[in-house]
Amino acid sequence: MLYPIELKNVSYFYSPGTAMQVAALKNINLTISEGELVGIIGHTGSGKSTLISHFNGLLKPGEGTVLVEGEDISKDKEALRAARFKVGLCFQYPEAQLFEETVAKDIAFGPKNMKLPEDEIARRVAEAAKYVGLRSEMLEKSPFDLSGGEKRRAAIAGVMAMEPKVLVLDEPAAGLDPRGKKEILNLIKNYRRRTGSTARHSFTQLRNAGVGQCCTLGH
Ligand SMILES: Nc1ncnc2c1ncn2[C@@H]1O[C@H](COP(=O)(O)OP(=O)(O)O)[C@@H](O)[C@H]1O
Ligand SMILES: [Mg+2]
Repeated sequence: MLYPIELKNVSYFYSPGTAMQVAALKNINLTISEGELVGIIGHTGSGKSTLISHFNGLLKPGEGTVLVEGEDISKDKEALRAARFKVGLCFQYPEAQLFEETVAKDIAFGPKNMKLPEDEIARRVAEAAKYVGLRSEMLEKSPFDLSGGEKRRAAIAGVMAMEPKVLVLDEPAAGLDPRGKKEILNLIKNYRRRTGSTARHSFTQLRNAGVGQCCTLGH
C-alpha cells in the first residue's frame, strides 16, 4: 500500500550537536491515507510546524524516513523535487509566501516553477483565484494591499494552483475574525470534497471540518 505520506521513526533536532540542541520531534510514526483529512494539534512549541515541514522535505529528518507515495524523499534530488510538487505546503504567515508585484504573479509562482505552459498557468491561476474567492480585479493588486483574510486566500491559491496531491496548511485560520475563520474552513472542506487527500492543522474546529485522524503532539 502506497500512502501519500508516511513517516517512520522521525526525529528532528534544531542546532544538532551544539549546546543549543532542541529535540523538536522524537520518534514520530505517522501514516496519512488517500482522501484522509488529518488534524495535528498540540501546544505552541510542541512541533506542529516542524512536523509538517517534513511532509515535503522542507526539513530533513535528523533520524528516520519520510516517504511520499512510497518514495524516500531524501533519496536524491529527483525524489525531493517530486515530493515538493505532490505535497503543497502553505505557511502560517502568508507574508512568507507572497512577494511578487501582483497577486496573479504570486499565484503563478508555483506553476511556473513546475515549468507548465503559459496557457495552463493562466488557467490554473484563474481557477485557484476563483476557488478561494478572490475577484479578478484583486489579481492585479499588490499582495500587500490585501486584507489579512485575502492574503491568506492568495497564499492558499498559490499552493492550490500547483494542484498538489496533498494540501498542508499551517494554522490556516489563526488570526482571522470568526467569519474569516469559517470561510477558510469551508474552503478546505469543499476542496477536499472536490479533490482527494488533505492534511491540515489547526487547534480548533477540527471536528466541524470533518477530521478523520487527529494527531496530538506533546512537549
Ligand atoms: N528555527 C528554530 N531554531 C531553533 N529551535 C526552533 C526553531 N523553530 C522551532 N524551534 C523549536 O522547536 C520546537 C517546536 O517548534 P514548532 O515546530 O514551531 O512548534 P509549533 O508549530 O507546534 O508551535 C519548539 O521548542 C521551538 O522553540
Ligand atoms: Mg507552528
